[in-house]
Amino acid sequence: LAALRHIDSPERGVLLLDEDLRITFANRRAAQLLNTTVDELVGAGLPEPLTRSLASQDDVVEEVLDSAFANDHVFHRYSTPICSPAGEFTGRIEIYSDITARRELEKEILDRNRELAELNAQLEDAQEQLVQSERLRALGEMAAGVAHDINNVLGIILGNVQIARRKLEHGGDATKCIDAIELAAKDAAETVHRLREIGKPIDRSSHQTIDLSEVAEDVLKAALPAWRESGAHGEQILVETRFEPDCTVIGNASEIREALANVLLNAAQAIDGSGKIEIATSRSNGFADLTVSDTGIGMDEETRKRLFDPFFTTRGAEGTGLGMSMVDAIAIRHRGRLIVESEVGKGTSITLRIPLRCSGLIADS
Ligand SMILES: Nc1ncnc2c1ncn2[C@@H]1O[C@H](COP(=O)(O)OP(=O)(O)O)[C@@H](O)[C@H]1O
Ligand SMILES: [Mg+2]
Repeated sequence: LAALRHIDSPERGVLLLDEDLRITFANRRAAQLLNTTVDELVGAGLPEPLTRSLASQDDVVEEVLDSAFANDHVFHRYSTPICSPAGEFTGRIEIYSDITARRELEKEILDRNRELAELNAQLEDAQEQLVQSERLRALGEMAAGVAHDINNVLGIILGNVQIARRKLEHGGDATKCIDAIELAAKDAAETVHRLREIGKPIDRSSHQTIDLSEVAEDVLKAALPAWRESGAHGEQILVETRFEPDCTVIGNASEIREALANVLLNAAQAIDGSGKIEIATSRSNGFADLTVSDTGIGMDEETRKRLFDPFFTTRGAEGTGLGMSMVDAIAIRHRGRLIVESEVGKGTSITLRIPLRCSGLIADS
């Protein structure tokens, strides 16, 4: 106790009490915060507010004394009984620590947190609005895209109808043309169906296991006759295929057909006079690739950069600029991407790269 009498911390107020709870020692900080002097304190009883929470002699009390108590300061009070070595109660010691600064910091943190929460809510609102306007934009694009697609399909159907009519007039077999017409009509129905599905969550059930080589062959069957008959350059374009087996992916066959039809059409349009288009499938590192390479005019830097922008076209009134943005969307929906290589005057190669379907536990390599 004698040693404790020398405590005069500027940080902590210290009081020593005897067994009757009379103050036997007070340091200056304690007097300061109880708004009195050391001399007044020594010999007096514990001030009223402090005895209130002392139910019995041997209570250990820990509490926060608010600013009303001590000149705008917030204090932490620690009060504990002192016992003799024999275990007899001999008095108490009270220690008050100034936690005003910590409290203010805590308050500031709380305020900052509240501000942050508010900002977050504003951000969420803004994001929602953005999503909404993006959805409207997508809707508009989809509508235009569907018109573009249906137009493509109608071209294929009309081309095949012309060929079929000619064949029938000469007593030939038009089965192939009718097959192609059927496939094209089914694709158109699927396109219309997709328009109805906008806004609804993606229907996973329409995804099946498909082989990119088979899909490519389907597209060629449908597109080639129409090209040959109606395309201005149809006759001069040499089409080569190089298909690898087992390029199986999980996807929507009709979407992949649509993507390939768009890329092929662009390739054909890029060829002025005569040229070659190669359609190839291959697999590597867990991905299946479907590549269309042409020996057309190629793309400059600007065109390559804006290739996927909706409504970007270099074909003036003849183009819609929607083909490649649809192809890009289809690639993304299949968790894949498009790889574009192009050189002005040499040609272009566009690869649709989609993750291979996993078989069992181990992914195909
Ligand atoms: N194979 C290609 N070779 C050269 N340019 C291409 C090729 N594919 C696309 N492009 C360029 O990208 C543009 C956008 O293509 P797309 O989105 O299909 O719209 P559109 O065919 O209606 O112009 C085309 O106008 C063309 O300039
Ligand atoms: Mg196009």
